[in-house]
Amino acid sequence: MSQVSETSARHVAIIMDGNGRWAKRRALPRAMGHKRGVEAVRTLVRSLQGTGVECLTLYAFSSENWKRPEEEVSDLMNLMRNFIRSDLDEFVENGVRLKIVGDWRALAPDIVEMLEDALERTANGSHTVAVALNYGSQQEIAAAARAAAAEGEITPEAIERHLFTADLPPVDLLIRTSGEVRLSNFLLWQMAYAEMLFVDTLWPDFTPEHLQAALDDFATRERRFGGR
Ligand code: FPP
Repeated sequence: MSQVSETSARHVAIIMDGNGRWAKRRALPRAMGHKRGVEAVRTLVRSLQGTGVECLTLYAFSSENWKRPEEEVSDLMNLMRNFIRSDLDEFVENGVRLKIVGDWRALAPDIVEMLEDALERTANGSHTVAVALNYGSQQEIAAAARAAAAEGEITPEAIERHLFTADLPPVDLLIRTSGEVRLSNFLLWQMAYAEMLFVDTLWPDFTPEHLQAALDDFATRERRFGGR
């Protein structure tokens, strides 16, 4: 079976890196970089309609990010609270279906409650914005393999059914900002055949035009999925 030249990316995943450096270059506190990072998220989510992107998955907080100083963790959690408070109505109006991937039920109880409400209110949206929170891909795969084993069959399909992303298409395009070239335990299974794009732009400076340029680049790539 030949499966070549899918030209539009249905599922785009982004590692939003460089908030700290953005702030440092301006002699601002790191928290300001994260705050501007949230604004970049907001602008990007607003721009999705018409791009063909059905799902955007954003790496907001990894299971390893708990190692950051307490103050930074708390800033990030507060940004999350404020983001849900301020943007939820707009998500609902614009047909965004919010999804959370990761062990989000281990977050602070008030955040869990806000997220439950947000998931319920956006459940009928037409395109998905998945936010990875307290997420680690190796942990996700191990848990999915355990669940598959408990059902008696450890096949790729069985594992896939137990991933957080079971209802999403595979990742077509990964973008990482800030010039770093690594995957940082993000969607390792889901990116088996993803195209990857590493850009120097720091996350707070990433605009819908950058996303469009990435989608244009993706459209030129020949995908073979192991075939020829
Ligand atoms: C990486 O920058 C960024 C993060 C660890 C957090 C990403 C979070 C946001 C953009 C805000 C929260 C998102 C939502 C959806 C509300 P870094 O701090 O590692 O930057 P550096 O490598 O330059 O220090």
